[in-house]
Amino acid sequence: MKFFIDTADLAEIEEAASWGVLAGVTTNPSLYARIGGKLADFPEHIKRICALVNGSVSAEVVGQTADEMVREAQELASIAANIVIKIPVGIEGLAATSALTKAGIPVNMTLVFSVPQAILAARAGARYISPFIGRFDDIGEDGISQVADIVNAIGNYDWRGAGIGMEEPEIIAASIRSVNHVAQAALIGADIATVPFAVLRSCLSHPLTDRGLEAFIKDWEKVLQA
Ligand code: E4P
Repeated sequence: MKFFIDTADLAEIEEAASWGVLAGVTTNPSLYARIGGKLADFPEHIKRICALVNGSVSAEVVGQTADEMVREAQELASIAANIVIKIPVGIEGLAATSALTKAGIPVNMTLVFSVPQAILAARAGARYISPFIGRFDDIGEDGISQVADIVNAIGNYDWRGAGIGMEEPEIIAASIRSVNHVAQAALIGADIATVPFAVLRSCLSHPLTDRGLEAFIKDWEKVLQA
């Protein structure tokens, strides 16, 4: 499983990139609003993110029609070579995904909550499909088993020719809220987990790791004094 970071915060992206394991970034309008982003600064901000990461950067369109989405996507795609266009699943989104895929612009289909939505996204040529875990849990459903079903359903078919020169779309486990979500995403075979910075950092800590390290350092002091 690859790790993406789910944030628009440059400092968080820079820090996570320095760990050497970051394969991409996902942003959305809410994440950009959360850092106080302004419309006029958006292209430059995305450009700065693209320069920080050696991997794909998903930037989301806000248009409501396929034509608007395609127009926005073309502008975003011109910012950097590693841009992926995030498009919400739906009729207009599918049409936009199909057009962009044919034009060689990769799409991450977002806000996916069911197997049929995921299959349609793949059929339209989406490079990435993002089922949301936490938001599904929030309404009393089981987000992880939904992602597991999507991973299995996509794995049932040969998608060669559907997208842009790849064999099958990658499933991004999104809306991750905890270390357990990360673990479960790996166990059910998600290709990628897009993880908020705080959760990513928590993935590295364990009380037994801390306790073990403390003991090693204390014992080494004894060796130094022997
Ligand atoms: C996915 O790409 C979304 O940006 C994100 O994972 C949504 O997460 P949330 O439900 O915590 O807002």
